[in-house]
Amino acid sequence: MSGETLSDLMRRGAEKLQNAGLEDPRGEVRRLLCLVTGYTPATLIAKEQDPTTDDLRTGFDLALGLRAERHPFAHIAGRADFFGLELWSDGRALVPRADSECVVELALSLIPKDANWHLADLGTGSGALLAALLSQRPETAGTAIDLNREALSLAAENFAHLQLGERIELLRGSWAGWTGWGACDLIISNPPYICSDVIPDLEPEVRDYDPVDALDGGPDGLDAYREIITLAAQQMKSGAYLVLEIGYDQKSAVTELLEAAGFTEFEHRKDLGGNDRAIAVKKS
Ligand SMILES: C[S@@+](CC[C@H](N)C(=O)[O-])C[C@H]1O[C@@H](n2cnc3c(N)ncnc32)[C@H](O)[C@@H]1O
Repeated sequence: MSGETLSDLMRRGAEKLQNAGLEDPRGEVRRLLCLVTGYTPATLIAKEQDPTTDDLRTGFDLALGLRAERHPFAHIAGRADFFGLELWSDGRALVPRADSECVVELALSLIPKDANWHLADLGTGSGALLAALLSQRPETAGTAIDLNREALSLAAENFAHLQLGERIELLRGSWAGWTGWGACDLIISNPPYICSDVIPDLEPEVRDYDPVDALDGGPDGLDAYREIITLAAQQMKSGAYLVLEIGYDQKSAVTELLEAAGFTEFEHRKDLGGNDRAIAVKKS
């Protein structure tokens, strides 16, 4: 035991995270304390005058040091919640974002409940989007594609631990060389869409710890959309859907690319922050 209570750790931790430039140091330190104690936020408040053990303090200081170095919380915890699923998360793939949940919602609104459709996730990363779709639509199967071997290994671990592995084909490579477009009823993608010259200005959690090939969308952020939309227009079967995550300011540009490729029926969704975040089109 030490003289420090949980409340003392909270104060000490919040000061360190404030000095490290985090926006919500008290909220962040509460999350870290819940992680190391296993308490819910309510229990943490109830026990804040409890003394701490050496083990607890060691675990807390380790997690606190990593967060002060701006490691993402999901990497410290080793997991991220996405669409009600617990996914393993580490430096091998982009941390799944809450913003992407509306992309999944848009796709789910297009897939009938008992459909035995074949789905594909282009640039699957941790596997978050495809895992969410397959967990909500039990008769579907899917193909998960990623250029990055490390990301695909994390996706494989996630599909296995969510017991989805048998319904998923994993492919390492570029969507550019993939031949399965025509076999899919719905293709979803959250491709890299940040303009290359904006990357140095991103938050350290993203810039330093998400893989760069998950972020870099080329000079105007649209390289991946140009490629995917061209291939989708050429190779998807009639009646199939393409569902894309977009950056908050990319709705017009991506809509124009889709229109130029011949797509006509559009649906859009905003994320919880009110930003344009998802576009779906149907192949005529
Ligand atoms: C923004 S991340 C999305 C990860 C995941 N789908 C998600 O939403 O959390 C984009 C992913 O696309 C992959 N990627 C980039 N270019 C690719 C390409 N040409 N073919 C296949 N995957 C690619 C990256 O490796 C990365 O995992």
